Amino acid sequence: MIMIRTLSGIQPSGKLHIGNYFGMMRPMIERMDKSELYAFVVNLHALTTVQDRERLSRDTFEAAADFLALGLNPERCIFWVQSDVPEVTELAWVLSTLTPMGLLERCHSYKDKTAKGIIPSHGLFAYPVLMAADILIFQANQVPVGKDQKQHVEVARDIAQKFNNTFGETFIIPEPVIDEKLATVPGLDGQKMSKSYDNTIAIFTDRNVLKKRVMAIVTDATPVEDPKDPANCNLFGLFKLFAPSDRLQEVHDLYVNGGAMYGKIKLELVDLIWDFFGEARETRERLENDRGYVREVLARGGEKAREQAAVTLDLVRDKVGLRY
Ligand code: ADP
Ligand code: TRP
Repeated sequence: MIMIRTLSGIQPSGKLHIGNYFGMMRPMIERMDKSELYAFVVNLHALTTVQDRERLSRDTFEAAADFLALGLNPERCIFWVQSDVPEVTELAWVLSTLTPMGLLERCHSYKDKTAKGIIPSHGLFAYPVLMAADILIFQANQVPVGKDQKQHVEVARDIAQKFNNTFGETFIIPEPVIDEKLATVPGLDGQKMSKSYDNTIAIFTDRNVLKKRVMAIVTDATPVEDPKDPANCNLFGLFKLFAPSDRLQEVHDLYVNGGAMYGKIKLELVDLIWDFFGEARETRERLENDRGYVREVLARGGEKAREQAAVTLDLVRDKVGLRY
C-alpha cells in the first residue's frame, strides 16, 4: 500500500477567510484520518508581503489558533510554524541553483502580485522555490491547495524531477490536490476571495461585521420577479457553500423561476455562516485565553518536523557534494 503523506501551508498575511477554509483548511482537516498530515503556517513566505513586525507575529499566532479551532487535531498531525524548521531555507538554496529562471518567470502569482503594487523583491520572485523546499523536504506526495496554487506545486514537481535526474532518486514527486467543485470561492465582488482584494468574509469575526460584509456582496439589478442565473451570481456561489441541500434547491428554483430576493437571501446567509462556525468560534475563544497551549502545540510540532527535515537535508547534502 502506498503511504499518503499530505502537506499544505497557509500564509499568516491577514485574517483567514472562508475561501481559505473551503479551499485549503477543510480539505486538510478532512484528510487527518486518511493520511499522514503535515500542516504549517508559512511565515517566511508571508515576509514577502508583510513587513510589519507586530502584524506578522500576531497573524502567525492567529492563523495557528484558527486552524486548531476549526478542527485540526495536533495529536493526529504535525503542525508547526515554517521558520521553526530552518533546514528548509538551506534546501531552498540548493534547489534554487537548479531552478531555471524561465520556470519562475512563468509564474502567474509573481506577476499578479507585482501588478497589484507588491514590491518585486527577490524573495517574491523566488517564493515558489521556498515552497518547493517546504514540500520536498517532508517527502509529501499530496498537496491540497486552491486552484491559484496549482502552478506552484507544478514548479515543485519540476524542481524535484530536475534534482532526481541530476543527483539520483531523492525526492518524491508531489501532486496538487484540488477539489474542482470548490476550487475558487468567490469574494464579495465576484473575483476570487482573497486577502489582497479586500473582498473577504472572515471566518471568525463579530456578528455585526459579518452582517456588513454579507450585505456588501455585489448583486445585479434584476427585478425580484425576473429569472436569474444562479451560476453567475456570487451571492448564490457563497450561499451554496453553507445551505442545506433542500433549502439550496428551493433558492435555486427561486432564481430560475423568479422571486429570489437578494436582501432576504443575504440575511439568511448571515445566519448560516454564523451557525456553521459556531462551535469553532467557541473553541477559538477558549484558545485566545490559553495562548500557552497554542505555543506548546507549535513547539512540539516544530521539533517533530525538524527531525524529519534534517533527515532529508542530510541526504541532499551528501548527494550534491556538500560533505568533504
Ligand atoms: P489569499 O489569496 O487570501 O492571500 P492565500 O494565498 O494565503 O490566500 O491562500 C491560502 C490557501 O487558501 C491556498 O491553498 C489557496 O489556494 C486557498 N484559497 C485562498 N483563497 C481562496 C478562494 N477564494 N477559494 C478557494 N481557495 C482559496
Ligand atoms: N504559497 C501558498 C499560499 O500562498 C502557501 C504555501 C507555502 C504552501 N508553502 C507551501 C502551500 C507548501 C502548500 C505547500 O497559499
